[in-house]
Amino acid sequence: MNRIIYKEGSDKLLYICISFTLIYVVMKKIIIAIDGVSSTGKSTMAKDLARELGYTYIDTGAMYRAVTLYSLHVACAAVVQTFYSLQHGFFTSGGIDEQKLQDAMNDIDISFRFNPETGRPDTYLNGVKVEKEIRGMEVANRVSPIAALGFVRRAMVAKQQEMGKAKGIVMDGRDIGTVVFPDAELKIYVTASPEVRAQRRLDELKAKGEVASFEEVLENVKTRDHIDMTRVESPLRKADDALELDNSHLTIAEQKAWLLEQYEKVVTSD
Ligand code: DC
Repeated sequence: MNRIIYKEGSDKLLYICISFTLIYVVMKKIIIAIDGVSSTGKSTMAKDLARELGYTYIDTGAMYRAVTLYSLHVACAAVVQTFYSLQHGFFTSGGIDEQKLQDAMNDIDISFRFNPETGRPDTYLNGVKVEKEIRGMEVANRVSPIAALGFVRRAMVAKQQEMGKAKGIVMDGRDIGTVVFPDAELKIYVTASPEVRAQRRLDELKAKGEVASFEEVLENVKTRDHIDMTRVESPLRKADDALELDNSHLTIAEQKAWLLEQYEKVVTSD
């Protein structure tokens, strides 16, 4: 009799423990920082992971691209129509008019809105959707020097830290694990060979109807790596406690399984 009561009691206790563990895992929101070189598919990876976990996805590269678009739009016919009221051409033959851009920083409002059709967030610049405009070569060729400016970075980092305050986010970029969220619970550093990345980028551009050669795209990939890794402000580097993922030869499914495994290890630890 005593034995039966004891067994029922221990089963109950086990049941309660398992329930609490499950609730804790579901409730425990963490910050997932995904950094790495360009065109590794890390944005797609981060978006899918966020969707899988019910987390918010924040594409910090899109923020630097939006600042670039703002700085460039006078030279970009498609955007001039949208931003006809703004007349800021901050790119000069000598480089960027930093003073003008710095003065305009408070006028640049970047936000993300979830698009139910794609299941992913779209980037908005001063209330206008610019998801397509920020992905073209025009912006890609000019974004690195903009992202290297200290005052631009400080403004973006402050915004990113604000966005991640409540946790439950997957944020991708170059300095998330090193500068934006150095205490992120899970940090991933993604790499792939320049040739593999150039081919992926070329496929993406072709799918959008943009014309570019493999050599041109490869050059762009290598130049961006160089600028991102050697800039004075927050150079791209792997955080000491980040896990490295070389996805040159991984399928999407293999990559996803690996990511979920890392996530589960973190949320079920301690
Ligand atoms: O990830 P992406 O290719 O969209 O990034 C665009 C540019 O912005 C790229 O040159 C790197 C830079 N960037 C950055 O400096 N810091 C970040 N956190 C994200 C992107």
